[in-house]
Amino acid sequence: MSIKLRWYGHNAWMLDVQGVKILIDPFISNSPASPEEMKDVSQIKADFILVSHGHNDHLGDTVKIARNTSATVVAMADMAGWLHGNGVQNILDMNLGGTVMLRPGLSVKMTYAAHSSTLPDGKSGGNSCGFLITMGEKNIYFACDTALFSDMQLICPENLTLAVLPIGDRYTMGPADALSAVTLLKARRVLACHYSTWPLIRQDVEKWTAQVRALGVDSEVLTPGNIIEV
Ligand code: NI
Ligand code: MN
Repeated sequence: MSIKLRWYGHNAWMLDVQGVKILIDPFISNSPASPEEMKDVSQIKADFILVSHGHNDHLGDTVKIARNTSATVVAMADMAGWLHGNGVQNILDMNLGGTVMLRPGLSVKMTYAAHSSTLPDGKSGGNSCGFLITMGEKNIYFACDTALFSDMQLICPENLTLAVLPIGDRYTMGPADALSAVTLLKARRVLACHYSTWPLIRQDVEKWTAQVRALGVDSEVLTPGNIIEV
């Protein structure tokens, strides 16, 4: 069984898991990184929307897409009230360390992230988080916005198929810490995101990817819009 993964730029991703569409941090219509032809979010179909925290470059178009599609929004319990108050009908609330089944054989675990989470109205969104998505033998870790933390080595000690890591620096890990994360995670394959969306987080992703490969880990540079398979 394969999982298709499409990058919208920044930390926005669409997973297609055997026809189940899982959108992650859909900051799309206002994202400088999203290709113009992908910015019309009324075209997006989703079964689930995973939101890592309340910052607008992650929450993004969540409310609009959830209202259009009736997708279930998976988020930190502290964000549920805000989501409900903004017209999101289907909310799956959880907290760090918890795992939920989205479909038989398809689970999401909410993982620790070292970051903040303030909602658009200034209220707290609780903790920020990452996600570990598991389907059968495969699993993908989305670190989302985070600093480096040594417990990354515990996220999936044996068998991580793919890790998606921020490298932009300033608001998250930068390239050097993200390289340390690659070592801690022991993933077979790694992708960079959350870089060069704005000048403040501009990074040399080609150089970083070469450094990851030098560690013996598969990695490639994506362009927003690209689809890969894991
Ligand atoms: Ni953030
Ligand atoms: Mn961010």
